[in-house]
Amino acid sequence: MDLLPAKTPAALAETAASRIADLIAARPDAAVVVATGNTPLATYRVLGERVGRGDLDASRLRVFQLDEYLGLGHGDDRSLYGWMARAFLHPLGIPERNAVRLPSGAVDPDAACRAYDAAVRDAGGFDLAILGLGPNGHLGFNEPPSDRAAPTRVVTLSPESVASNAAYWGGDPARVPRQALTAGMDLLLAARHTLLLVSGAPKRAILRRALDGPPTADVPASWLHLAPKVTVVADRAALTDGAP
Ligand code: PGA
Repeated sequence: MDLLPAKTPAALAETAASRIADLIAARPDAAVVVATGNTPLATYRVLGERVGRGDLDASRLRVFQLDEYLGLGHGDDRSLYGWMARAFLHPLGIPERNAVRLPSGAVDPDAACRAYDAAVRDAGGFDLAILGLGPNGHLGFNEPPSDRAAPTRVVTLSPESVASNAAYWGGDPARVPRQALTAGMDLLLAARHTLLLVSGAPKRAILRRALDGPPTADVPASWLHLAPKVTVVADRAALTDGAP
């Protein structure tokens, strides 16, 4: 894993956006799996500004949802697809028909997971995974323990994830669904390039465990040591050594 230290969250966003923009320039129809959460939002804003200035054309990207709460009704404001659409698809000028969803309202969630896997396979796998790091080391909703081969599946959220996700929806844990769908570790670890974005002191200890290894199901992000090409972009607050 390569570590790219950034001084501030704003510098993190510029660095990550430049990496993503380079990849889009090299492969305009790249298959990209996209995290929601707070950390990548500034990066997506920078990318949206570049698109707005005409410096970047992201309109051909094929976008895959990373994770989704299970059982939300149509139009529910907690939909992670809706968040991804507002934060990534729309500002980057990507038509929603280019997006592959993990459907919250799936009648048969297992079948929905297999359909997602098939869509990723048809796309030739992920060219890029844009990921955040959960406070418990999760990637997407691959909660600890998650094996490196864990497939796309229905998961029960850990108490830590319920607590951290509550912050997105006004702080009330009761607003966080207990079950979710997540892209599998198997698909994420096969991505040809992974950007792991990590910001803030509360992530220091778990980032250190992910970086130092050894790879373990108890820290799903530590499996990234086995992925082909991983770039961790972390701000100073998230780094124990205070670099740069
Ligand atoms: P955050 O979430 O970016 O809001 O910290 C990361 C995650 O839980 O995966």
